[in-house]
Amino acid sequence: MREIRPLRQEDWDGYVQISMNAYPGMRVNTAVEQDRLRNRAQRMNADPTITFYGLFEDGSLRGVMRLHDFTMRLHGAELPVGGVGAVAVDLFHKKRRIAYDLIQFFLDHYRERGAPLAVLYPFRPDFYKEMGFGYGRKLNQYRIKPADLPAGDQRQNVAPLTKRDRHALVACYNRFMAQNNGLMALSDFAVNAFFHGPKLRLAGYWQDGLLRGYLVFLFEPLGEENFLRNNLIVRRLVYETPEALRGLLAFLRSQADQIERVILHTQEEDFHLLLADPRNGRIPLMPSVYQETNVQGMGIMYRLIDLPRYFALLREHNFGGQTVRLQVTLTDSFYPVNGGSWLIDFVDGRARLRESGDCDVEIQLDVAEFSSLVVGATDFRRLMMYGLATISDRHYIDIVHRLFYTEKKPLCMSSF
Ligand SMILES: CC(C)(COP(=O)(O)OP(=O)(O)OC[C@H]1O[C@@H](n2cnc3c(N)ncnc32)[C@H](O)[C@@H]1OP(=O)(O)O)[C@@H](O)C(=O)NCCC(=O)NCCS
Repeated sequence: MREIRPLRQEDWDGYVQISMNAYPGMRVNTAVEQDRLRNRAQRMNADPTITFYGLFEDGSLRGVMRLHDFTMRLHGAELPVGGVGAVAVDLFHKKRRIAYDLIQFFLDHYRERGAPLAVLYPFRPDFYKEMGFGYGRKLNQYRIKPADLPAGDQRQNVAPLTKRDRHALVACYNRFMAQNNGLMALSDFAVNAFFHGPKLRLAGYWQDGLLRGYLVFLFEPLGEENFLRNNLIVRRLVYETPEALRGLLAFLRSQADQIERVILHTQEEDFHLLLADPRNGRIPLMPSVYQETNVQGMGIMYRLIDLPRYFALLREHNFGGQTVRLQVTLTDSFYPVNGGSWLIDFVDGRARLRESGDCDVEIQLDVAEFSSLVVGATDFRRLMMYGLATISDRHYIDIVHRLFYTEKKPLCMSSF
């Protein structure tokens, strides 16, 4: 008999065994490394928004996962959202649908708690795409020579942040979250990790007594032979104002005498506009004369788990000012309770579900693509052009496009 429940004190050794074998890349082998993994997991588990679960077969632990109760700011509303991380199955019990049961439990758990969406970072995108998760916005990695960053005298306002600045940092992030789309509230664990991570440094930009932006960064040696040469890795760049961005970038620029490259990750597509030379140092040309500026990666994935709940929580959101009665028919082979047809009445952009009636137009698509659409990571015209959605009357393509279109594509800065 299978049971899924939160881990208890006696389960942590089993958790360590399963995780160290599932993620050999974490290099957890010795007793000290195992203790470190256990302690870190227990510290996370102490955060009220994070819970580790196990799948037990006749009392034996076979698989684990970590659930996160997130609050996401999406299209101007705050939504409860479920996150899952650290999914791991016992080496000797793979391909027995243990991950399948864990993910089903995860979706039920958050649907029952009123969350319309679930999120995760996939170890393999195709594994979770098959389970109905849709792609989010990609991440760009820039490798910038510090001198190519903009200079500026706003650098004077940049200072190191200490534990005393914790509230200021959270307040700054919360304002940034309100300005943007898709960001999730910081957990205590995440904030503690910024301030207590032995390798991490924090720099803040102060304007009229308020923290208006910050950097979380660390140094990475270039190699064994010369300890004087390092890269600077930016883990977080948060800014509310152009001055804060300019100040923080000028601070990074001022490290040019010691830093080879600033390695910066951002979901913003236009970041190259800020750089004197945006090339990332890789020599081969792309055809014809395009030069590499950044590499991109797929990460965060989104999944709608309750369509009526999504529209109920976004009842104040304006869906593109459109008036149309839309039938959405979703295929959801992994989680059939979420599949089916819904009739949504949009009046001047406000959405209300209707029990029955005629529709003006019907769209049909898989839950994965619809999930990318409803968070704003893609748009309807693109889905039509790629053959990933169908519509009963092509005259309505532009109207449906405008319903879900947002200039603010979703950001995600939460590691889990
Ligand atoms: C990746 C890992 C979690 C998979 O665990 P697993 O228990 O072997 O996986 P499962 O047996 O549950 O495989 C998934 C099942 O869901 C099924 N499935 C997926 N989408 C489906 C859908 N839409 N409808 C029906 N079934 C679906 C798959 O077909 C598969 O079942 P099958 O093998 O019977 O065809 C495991 O190999 C592991 O621990 N790997 C190392 C750690 C890791 O990478 N974790 C992931 C972190 S995000």
